Amino acid sequence: MILFLVIVALLVVYFIFHRIFVHRKTFTGTAKLHGKTVIVTGGNTGIGKATASAMAARGGRVILACRSKQKGEEAAREIRMETGNENVIFMQLDLASQKSIRSFAESFLKAERRLDLLINNAALASPGRTEDGLGMILGVNHIGPFLLTHLLLDRLKACAPSRVVNVSSCGHDLGTIDFDCINTHKALALGSSDADLFRAYTNSKLCNVLFTHQLAKRLEGTNVTCYSLHPGSVNTELGRDINEWTTRILKAIVGWFGATDPVSGAQTTLYCALQEDIEHLSGRYFSDCQLVQVKPEARDDGIAKKLWDVSEKLCGMS
Ligand SMILES: NC(=O)c1ccc[n+]([C@@H]2O[C@H](COP(=O)([O-])OP(=O)(O)OC[C@H]3O[C@@H](n4cnc5c(N)ncnc54)[C@H](OP(=O)(O)O)[C@@H]3O)[C@@H](O)[C@H]2O)c1
Ligand SMILES: *[C@@H]1O[C@H](CO)[C@@H](O)[C@H](O)[C@H]1NC(C)=O
Ligand SMILES: *[C@@H]1O[C@H](CO)[C@@H](O)[C@H](O)[C@H]1NC(C)=O
Repeated sequence: MILFLVIVALLVVYFIFHRIFVHRKTFTGTAKLHGKTVIVTGGNTGIGKATASAMAARGGRVILACRSKQKGEEAAREIRMETGNENVIFMQLDLASQKSIRSFAESFLKAERRLDLLINNAALASPGRTEDGLGMILGVNHIGPFLLTHLLLDRLKACAPSRVVNVSSCGHDLGTIDFDCINTHKALALGSSDADLFRAYTNSKLCNVLFTHQLAKRLEGTNVTCYSLHPGSVNTELGRDINEWTTRILKAIVGWFGATDPVSGAQTTLYCALQEDIEHLSGRYFSDCQLVQVKPEARDDGIAKKLWDVSEKLCGMS
């Protein structure tokens, strides 16, 4: 009897957690993308690949902007086969190199006529420094997309209504912005232990949310809108540079709360990119295909502006 009650209690707790943590809404919009061009950074694997594939299935011209030529071309081939859409191509982009970002933007603007959707999806949680001497996580997760978005903005404006979507994370909620550390060390956190990497990662995801907030203001009146989001907890390669045991424990926790596959992980990105009539929510943050209010620090005009200014400096724009 007691055993039975315990089991029932456990099941109840499990279902409550399941409801709270599992992100499983499917985007049901029917928007087509014929004649539209989409860039997905990190589109060769995980959530990015699932997103790119869904965009291709809707008829869009899809550019996989990835650092590895081999992986990028392979993924483009797979998506072409899967969707029957021949307009899926790879273009080289390494977000850890400002030279590569500039050269990607230049080639893209020369070769392509449109840009309707820019999906800033690529991110990592790795130690080290970028080619430009920035902390790797700051460089790839924040400064890289910042520069890329800036370089492509005129094209987005010319193709308006258009959108920029930033794949952030619910981890941003644990993040803080340490301007002293950014100014002195060009990094979001020092050290390379798992805890340090995790801290830099959550801080970088807070940067994504703050930038979306600031960008939306700057884009007022242009018909270019922007959104940030949490994709859900998805088993991908994201933890590849974190200690094996930490990864296993994290995966077990994620698994317990119902980790979803990359296809489910792409749903909120698709919602932000394609849902009709959310333009008035530009600059806001979404999770599970719904608007979510972020903590005050993540929508603070002063912090967002300060971060914008130091980011301009770090990519040589001011
Ligand atoms: N998985 C989750 O549970 C979860 C939760 C919250 C948020 N997110 C967010 O979801 C997004 C996608 O992550 P994921 O889980 O799909 O991770 P993933 O499987 O590790 O994919 C990340 C992608 O980013 C690319 N990338 C890494 N460094 C790059 C660089 N320097 N230049 C260009 N591309 C680079 C990777 O390319 P390579 O294959 O060449 O390494 C890969 O294509 C990220 O923004 C992440 O923060 C994920
Ligand atoms: C996305 O995030 C990057 C880096 O944080 C930022 O530079 C860019 O403006 C953001 N774009 C949007 C739409 O939020
Ligand atoms: C934005 O879109 C509206 C409605 O389609 C249009 O009237 C307006 O001229 C557009 N503004 C710009 C700057 O393109």
